[in-house]
Amino acid sequence: MKIIAGNWKMNGTRDSLDAMMCGLEKIETNNRVILCVPFTMLNGGNDVVAIGAQDVSAHTHGAFTGEVSAKMIADAGAKYVIVGHSECRQYHGDTNATVRQKAEMALANGLVPIICVGETMDEKQAGKTMAVIESGVRESVPSDTDSNIIIAYEPRWAIGAGLTPTASEIAEAHTLIAKTLSDMGLGGTPVLYGASVKGNNAADIMSIPNVDGVLVGGASLKSDDFIPIITSVN
Ligand code: PGA
Repeated sequence: MKIIAGNWKMNGTRDSLDAMMCGLEKIETNNRVILCVPFTMLNGGNDVVAIGAQDVSAHTHGAFTGEVSAKMIADAGAKYVIVGHSECRQYHGDTNATVRQKAEMALANGLVPIICVGETMDEKQAGKTMAVIESGVRESVPSDTDSNIIIAYEPRWAIGAGLTPTASEIAEAHTLIAKTLSDMGLGGTPVLYGASVKGNNAADIMSIPNVDGVLVGGASLKSDDFIPIITSVN
């Protein structure tokens, strides 16, 4: 069983989610399928597909105009929430400390946080990939959880770029993440790979050791692209 999570980013409408759900209802899979959609579509889940949000406030409630709390996301019917996505780190200034607070809010409200870590191109070129990944996990992941979390390794330079690291680079990153989680008492936590996953590379990526699934951006928007990824492994 693999975890196949889609991230719609700021795309789609309720109609396009309905169309996706119709397509997904027809497939047979043992994999866990999650779609992380904009806040306006959070009530769209069913037996086949669980719905997630893409971000959550680090605060419980109150005077935070424009923010959406974990309690509200759970109340709308979602089961998951992405925290620390590269775009939230880049455009909203999320740090590992903020990401951890958001993950704690998610957990406190019964949501499974999908916690993203990964290096920028500058960090990669400076030879800091492994250090950034390890500190990302140690600092962003709440250590006092019962492990109901998912980690996503997303090399930030590869997102939306049509580029992926080599299989051995992905293996090295995932092995480090698995070891770090185990050191933190969170062994067995699923670790997804994300960035430029498509139908033609998904099965190969998911055959790499310690890759428990994928987080898919652009190729999750249309069922013709997303379904082949879900059915590429069983
Ligand atoms: P991509 O996005 O699949 O379009 O590269 C991945 C993501 O941002 O989660």
